[in-house]
Amino acid sequence: MSKLRLGVNIDHVATVRNARGGSTPDPVRAAILAQEFGADGITAHLREDRRHIADADIDALMDALNVPLNFEMAATDEMQKIALRHKPHAVCIVPEKREERTTEGGLEVAREENQLAHFIAPLREAGCRVSIFIAADQRQIDAAHRIGAQVIELHTGAFCDAHAEGDFATRDAELEKMRDMSTYAHSLGLEVHAGHGLTYDTVQPVAAFPEVMELNIGHFLIGEAIFLGLGPAMAEMRRLMDEVRT
Ligand code: PXP
Repeated sequence: MSKLRLGVNIDHVATVRNARGGSTPDPVRAAILAQEFGADGITAHLREDRRHIADADIDALMDALNVPLNFEMAATDEMQKIALRHKPHAVCIVPEKREERTTEGGLEVAREENQLAHFIAPLREAGCRVSIFIAADQRQIDAAHRIGAQVIELHTGAFCDAHAEGDFATRDAELEKMRDMSTYAHSLGLEVHAGHGLTYDTVQPVAAFPEVMELNIGHFLIGEAIFLGLGPAMAEMRRLMDEVRT
């Protein structure tokens, strides 16, 4: 099986920084360290309300990184302009609601197909790999494929939440759906990524899907880094991912 890429999401470092309104801890420093510790990519979500990552962070990440930046953003004109100015390696289109604490669900691609097709076309022309963050739902995968996305990222949140709540029937059903939909998306020629809410306890069943090429992990890793340091926290995640890819 091919090696699974680990994308480290550094939004939560910016959340801590912004809690004080100063300049520390610096998410760009965290990204550079994550790169040194073997991250295959860095993920950052520039939200419309700038609650964590700021525009200047994106400028600095583009200058500082050697690994690909996966720029998460809502499908808005403002974000499209920023993406076209920077031309990051990948752009991941996510749904965004101001009142949510984090990205709660996948994007409704099927309902907004025409609009999204127009939205992503210039991003693709600019050389960005376009990824769409969606639930493991065949309708959404078909729509993502039709609009010309190259990648889908499966939302692992429902699976991880069910695990945390001890609702193992739901957890296993969510896992089964993601397994089937990874295979389906791959059969259409889409590259499959996954992420949201993954921890040491939940990463392995997802990492074991042979079609999944990349996991994007933030909140848990940054939390573990408080106790272990970023390098050891990433090394343990990497070990668990690699263990099921043999
Ligand atoms: N992938 C996407 C598309 C996301 O929106 C997020 C959260 O920002 C993640 C991965 C990482 O999720 P978490 O921080 O829960 O690991």
